[in-house]
Amino acid sequence: PAEKVALKERIRKLLKEKQAVLVAHYYVDADLQDLAEETGGCVSDSLEMARFGRDHPAKTLVVAGVKFMGETAKILSPDKTILMPDLDATCSLDLGCPADEFAAFCDAHPDRTVVVYANTSAAVKARADWMVTSSIGLDIVAHLHAQGKKILWAPDKHLGSYIQKKTGADMLLWQGSCLVHDEFKGVELELLKKEHPNAKILVHPESPEAVVALADVVGSTSQLIAAARSLDAKEFIVATDNGILHKMKMAAPGKTFIDAPTAGNSATCKSCAHCPWMAMNGLRNLAEVLETGRNEILVDPEIGRKAYVCIDRMLDFAA
Ligand code: 13P
Ligand code: SF4
Repeated sequence: PAEKVALKERIRKLLKEKQAVLVAHYYVDADLQDLAEETGGCVSDSLEMARFGRDHPAKTLVVAGVKFMGETAKILSPDKTILMPDLDATCSLDLGCPADEFAAFCDAHPDRTVVVYANTSAAVKARADWMVTSSIGLDIVAHLHAQGKKILWAPDKHLGSYIQKKTGADMLLWQGSCLVHDEFKGVELELLKKEHPNAKILVHPESPEAVVALADVVGSTSQLIAAARSLDAKEFIVATDNGILHKMKMAAPGKTFIDAPTAGNSATCKSCAHCPWMAMNGLRNLAEVLETGRNEILVDPEIGRKAYVCIDRMLDFAA
């Protein structure tokens, strides 16, 4: 704990000295989330992270999250310096959608409007017409569907089929998935619900269909936290990365939160639902990048300019 206190103090000082601001996701270590809030940065879902980073006047943003979040920040603010605690922190959705294969998929379906999830590389976004996050994907696809557009969707198959069912849009889906959310199990969740009949079930839409089907609320991380606060229930079963529980407990004190069951979630595994890449962000590497300026996120300017268009469209739609 003494080391932790010292590290936090050092980070606070460095953020001031370097005129940097910390932008964190709800899945990262609780200490980083708290530091982001205390120091005038933000902790939020990926849509809000993008907007906050774009609008904040700081010259340096430190993004505690995964690579696509750092890249999105850089694309929106090419003149800012974007640092990340660990450049190897990526995402199974990003890894599962290589830019060249994705380009071939798009080439094969030129009649479709290309909508990609935020969890993709800059090169994939450069090929898209729209980028969406989980908080706004449904609204944007509904809007495109109303205009009679056929959609090519990548990479998350669960989020894609959830949106497809809700909107009735014609969607051709890339078959990617999140390795964390893919592990939630419908049958086990149903059994757990029987043990807690009054609990409300909160589900991130990267989860499999059988899990989404049991949800009282489906939404982005911010939307799930808001639901925990506003719903009139004492107990919640939560199907998303358990990093979110820190903020949920703060937002809804006195309520009880139970991890949704995963394949490996038994008496011996209390924290299976945690993203290994989000977990790469820590106090030590955060202090180190602030001190040294190492781990800068760079995006090829030409790719960045192309990718900007689809991100800006989403932010404009959301405004
Ligand atoms: P949110 O946009 O809901 O925060 O989700 C990001 C993410 O990576 C979920 O796994
Ligand atoms: Fe990607 Fe899943 Fe990790 Fe989110 S939780 S960053 S979707 S691997």
